[in-house]
Amino acid sequence: MKSQKQQAAEETLKLVKDGTKIGIGSGSTVNEFIVLLGEAVKDGLQIQAVTASQQSKRLAKQHGIPIIDFPEHEKLSIVIDGADEVELSSFQALKGGGGSLVREKLVAAAGETFVLMVDEHKIVQQLGHFTLPVEVIPFGWQKTAERIKQLGGKPQMRKGEEGFFISDNHNYILDCDFGLIKDPNALHQSLKQLVGVVETGLFIDMVDGVYVAGGTGVRYIQR
Ligand code: A5P
Repeated sequence: MKSQKQQAAEETLKLVKDGTKIGIGSGSTVNEFIVLLGEAVKDGLQIQAVTASQQSKRLAKQHGIPIIDFPEHEKLSIVIDGADEVELSSFQALKGGGGSLVREKLVAAAGETFVLMVDEHKIVQQLGHFTLPVEVIPFGWQKTAERIKQLGGKPQMRKGEEGFFISDNHNYILDCDFGLIKDPNALHQSLKQLVGVVETGLFIDMVDGVYVAGGTGVRYIQR
């Protein structure tokens, strides 16, 4: 039997058009998508992809998907990713559980359409059940954490296999508990103004549609 992640990935694959350049995010749902996309490529689908993490890039290469860098003058026709939480009333999303939020946001911003694939437990009334990942510059990170505390957050340094987790951009991730986030845009803006903060996992006004997989199948919710 197919998992919800596989079902969501299967539906999302239908959005990928022959002859296009697409963006691929990261995470376990995206991994399912990459496997299916690889099969479609073997069957003759011609696409080129920009990937948002080293892990996605490796998997995509293993599955025969042609990888490119950002095209200079054109947009990616569609960018596909997972998420940790999505709030459907405003279509704001929280991402970065896998630590690739910066590149995921860069790839999402380069797309004409940004589509998420999630299972239904990730749909929330308010973001913030999942702690907010914030990527910070390693130099002076303790001071950056203090600044985040002054905004009302409780930052926790993310740990990796050996010591601190290091992002693809050689930065640290602070997982910040702000409780339920009433105004995601305001919080994102405040965090972005702090010295030492590179990016937050709040994807504000970026999401165009969400595939939600549940017990009764997959539904597509468009913004
Ligand atoms: C990676 O940094 C994240 O933004 C992922 O997109 C998110 O954590 C969802 O991952 P899963 O598909 O593994 O739940």
